[in-house]
Amino acid sequence: MSSRPIESLLDERRVFAPPEAFANQALVNDESVYERARRDPEGFWARAAEDLHWFRRWDAVLEWTPPYARWFVGGRTNIAYNCLDRHLRSARRNKAAIVWEGEPGEQRVLTYWDLAREVNRCANALLALGVRRGDRVAIYMPMIPELPIAMLACARIGAVHTVVFGGFSAEALRDRINDAQAKVVITADGGFRRGQIVPLKRNVDHALAETPTIQHVLVVRRIGEAAAIHMVEGRDRWWHRALDGMGLDCPAEEMDSEDLLYILYTSGTTGKPKGIVHTTGGYMVGTYLTTKWIFDLKEDDVYWCTADIGWVTGHSYIVYGPLANGATTVMYEGTPDWPEKDRFWEIVERYGVTVLYTAPTAIRTFIKWGPQWPARHDLSTLRLLGTVGEPINPEAWMWYRRHIGGDRTPVVDTWWQTETGMILISPLPGLTTLKPGSATRPFPTIDAEVVDEKGVPVPPNTGGYLVLRRPWPAMLRGIYGDPARFQQIYWDRIPGVYFTGDGARKDDDGYFWLLGRVDDVINVAGHRIGTMEVESALVSHPRVAEAAVIGMHHEIKGQALAAFVTLKDGGTPDESVIEELRDHVAEKIGPIAKPDRVLLTAELPKTRSGKIMRRLLRDIAEGRVLGDTTTLADPTVVHSLRERYEEDAGG
Ligand code: PRX
Repeated sequence: MSSRPIESLLDERRVFAPPEAFANQALVNDESVYERARRDPEGFWARAAEDLHWFRRWDAVLEWTPPYARWFVGGRTNIAYNCLDRHLRSARRNKAAIVWEGEPGEQRVLTYWDLAREVNRCANALLALGVRRGDRVAIYMPMIPELPIAMLACARIGAVHTVVFGGFSAEALRDRINDAQAKVVITADGGFRRGQIVPLKRNVDHALAETPTIQHVLVVRRIGEAAAIHMVEGRDRWWHRALDGMGLDCPAEEMDSEDLLYILYTSGTTGKPKGIVHTTGGYMVGTYLTTKWIFDLKEDDVYWCTADIGWVTGHSYIVYGPLANGATTVMYEGTPDWPEKDRFWEIVERYGVTVLYTAPTAIRTFIKWGPQWPARHDLSTLRLLGTVGEPINPEAWMWYRRHIGGDRTPVVDTWWQTETGMILISPLPGLTTLKPGSATRPFPTIDAEVVDEKGVPVPPNTGGYLVLRRPWPAMLRGIYGDPARFQQIYWDRIPGVYFTGDGARKDDDGYFWLLGRVDDVINVAGHRIGTMEVESALVSHPRVAEAAVIGMHHEIKGQALAAFVTLKDGGTPDESVIEELRDHVAEKIGPIAKPDRVLLTAELPKTRSGKIMRRLLRDIAEGRVLGDTTTLADPTVVHSLRERYEEDAGG
């Protein structure tokens, strides 16, 4: 790891016990939960499941035939019913379910009653479009209430949603639609982001040129005239027209606990994103309980997770977890610096947010902007803070606690993945003594371990691979349409356990410290990007012969991408090619995958057998001493590359 200032090392030794007042009123403040869970993990999850509604109770809590787990076997339920109808029989029917703010400043509050009606209308509209139980529906939307409404409507009728992040390009959308064989796309005429219009519908039109399975497109009017979109006769319907006159009641399908709930694509180590499959019952129970315990959710909390619903964090901790708990969840459409750099703090103050969940990248950006922005606002309602998505450096953790949490709030650093569906390593804020930079302990029943490549646990304070040795309710049930890849990526690396792809170490107290990915997945500003995906995007450009993409340290984004590219014609490298290549990546994947640096080079360092030595490229990008170069076919390549790279950085 790179060297860090001495203050941060001191911070690592500083610990924060739960404040007494917080602990006293916390939902979980008794250490015995861990022991009880250890003795009877299935009983633990069964008790959580009993809080929720089941049309038919399960016969067995767990059936585990590695690598496939089945949870609440034989149980029948509906997650939308649990997120909505369950709350309509009590005073919660009038409680705010979603508090939404658009980037331009509009506000909308939907009570549980309102939300249920909208979801029912949307569900009926989907049925009218021919969507049936088991069909896939692609959702490509801005952060507006219609996005969770669409997801819940799918869940209500048993259709499988696949949400595609609105920052992905038309081509990325097309590939996901085709992999999932979706029947309908739900989108909007556009969304607002930093004052600009994101042309979602136009991207859909491009994508749909090559998506044979799509029959209809449902379009929310978010922008209006200015979006200047074209509706295709017979294929496209306006959302408001399609929902108009639809019944306010649509019976919730009785889903089997193991029926598909959603597919969410995420980057892996090949050029092709994986469709991560989540099912109904276990996912519902897992997200329900982790939301409740980790965020210590009470009836009067105003909870805000700043993620985009296009990522798993939004699925589990904006939509399903909070709504299953009957919580009030805040949703914001735009960026934190629009119109000014205090937008988040304005929102916290305006709605009296009590629990805030955001990403380390955002925190590092706030640090750069300075504490004067949060200082302008009354943030005293905040009582708990959370982070997710990347390792948080102790400095950022301390800043967050001090400048946002007023030196009083616990900070829960939560580790998990698209694949895990729910948080697996995290403090319980009323119980756990916090160490800045550590995700602390596995959630009750979770059997996480740090091991070597043979699967043997490593001693304390030694780096190793993070693995999970027992199934958990919200775990992925596979990669859509690719069981072989599922087996190979997650279960064959170290036989018998789930391989997370993350490095970690445990300290003397058994606390987990996450060290980042150990594979070719890069975490750029909390967005997961596969280097192979970016490489395939680059080589699909007509002028590119070869490309190697690596992750390099970045002060704000955690990591950034650097691309080393050789051109076919070997032609004189000029600036315009570099911009063209970056734009090309944005077109193939999305702007988030644009490499920060592109270096054109006549040759890439390769072994004699022709393998690109990415390790050496990482050394170059990080300015480290070059590792072993003796296996290179031509060792001079790497030295001249280093000189060029440094010249380029200086220029
Ligand atoms: O490397 C870990 C990192 O994010 C990866 C999962 O990315 P994704 O599937 O996009 O889900 C992100 C949101 C759950 C992990 O393999 N990661 C996530 N949370 C943390 C983390 N790394 C360190 N600390 C965390 N709290």
